[in-house]
Amino acid sequence: MAGKVLVVDDDAGVQRLLQQTLRAEGYEVVLATEAAEALRLWQSESPSLLLLDATLPGVDGYDVAARIRGAETAGKHVPIIMLTSDRDVSQKVRALRAGADDYLVKPFHPAELLARMKALIARFAAGESLVGRPPMGRVHAYYGAKGGVGTTTIAINTAIALHSLDRSVVLVDGNLQFGDHRVFMDLANDRKSIVDAVNAPTMDSDLLKGVLQTHESGVDLLLAPPSPESADLVTPAHMHEILRVLASMYDYVVVDIDKRLDEINLMVLDVAETIFAVMTADLSCLKNVRLVLGTMGHLGYASGKLKLVLNRSNAYTGINVKSAEGALRQPIEYQIVNEYRGAISALNTGAPFMAAKADSVLGRSVMDFARDIDKAPAVSLAQLQPGTAR
Ligand SMILES: Nc1ncnc2c1ncn2[C@@H]1O[C@H](COP(=O)(O)OP(=O)(O)OP(=O)(O)O)[C@@H](O)[C@H]1O
Ligand SMILES: [Mg+2]
Repeated sequence: MAGKVLVVDDDAGVQRLLQQTLRAEGYEVVLATEAAEALRLWQSESPSLLLLDATLPGVDGYDVAARIRGAETAGKHVPIIMLTSDRDVSQKVRALRAGADDYLVKPFHPAELLARMKALIARFAAGESLVGRPPMGRVHAYYGAKGGVGTTTIAINTAIALHSLDRSVVLVDGNLQFGDHRVFMDLANDRKSIVDAVNAPTMDSDLLKGVLQTHESGVDLLLAPPSPESADLVTPAHMHEILRVLASMYDYVVVDIDKRLDEINLMVLDVAETIFAVMTADLSCLKNVRLVLGTMGHLGYASGKLKLVLNRSNAYTGINVKSAEGALRQPIEYQIVNEYRGAISALNTGAPFMAAKADSVLGRSVMDFARDIDKAPAVSLAQLQPGTAR
């Protein structure tokens, strides 16, 4: 049984359609047509997910969501997808504010509904389904030695590749001012972000579960703030706490950061088990990598903590891998092939190639990379104990 779904909708046609779609996928379906019945069935049936129409007669869906959130006890959170009838962004914002985890605008494609449901159920079952095996808790920082070298592309697609290897994965957009993950994964500005986590009084896994978004690939996302000015609300101590809690929940915490060595980025680098420094084979990038390697030495990082990833490795630049390694006096451990069309079309359609075209040359290259890093032995993270923020 895929799970029990409580469908709350007063339209008999919608009820029938949802019932058919869900039953065909192996879900058990419970139906309600108005608020009081919905609240009663939520209590008595303990569904794994609610599909909640926003415009019910009398008490509407927003109110039902808010009442459920108000009544839930600590540690409980039933995933709610709100079904709205209007593309109007204010309805979506209202749905998320009321406590929905996701929304869909009617009419929607059944495949999209099922993908979102699956992702949400998996996110909220995470931890429970991992009984017997604690999460691996590996924090990996993807650090761009120079802007535009492909750090975000590699972080996002590696996260999806690791998830397809049956790992639980959360992806953190650490580029707090100008994070690109919403664009790369076609998510609107109204989705919750890291700012919603730092505004709350206590930081724990329940809080983060309410802030994380689930991508259709199954990877959970902690998004950057929707606008640059709110980035300042996140302090290095917050980042430490967030990474510590996420590491207790997931096998992999994949953090995408840019080249600035500011306090937040230094915190991410400190905490990370491994830093994947993404580079391309050109002189200005090599110069930056040399500086970064020097800085890592001054910070006292163990040699081996930073690994070099050469992106667009087969693009002609006049500098080959051997000469780059010679200049850096460090081996380039990983290479990702150059495939501009695949990378840019994925970016512009908001569908990461690892999800849409895993079998492409680029997809296979990232999959090989993910397999390699998954095989590498984990290092224990003493720096992730509570209260060890610098
Ligand atoms: N392996 C690749 N082959 C070809 N093009 C690539 C590859 N990886 C990334 N690109 C392209 O390079 C550009 C920059 O990618 P991306 O945004 O991931 O880089 P970034 O280092 O995160 O940039 P920023 O400094 O803006 O954060 C994009 O157009 C992307 O499609
Ligand atoms: Mg980037």
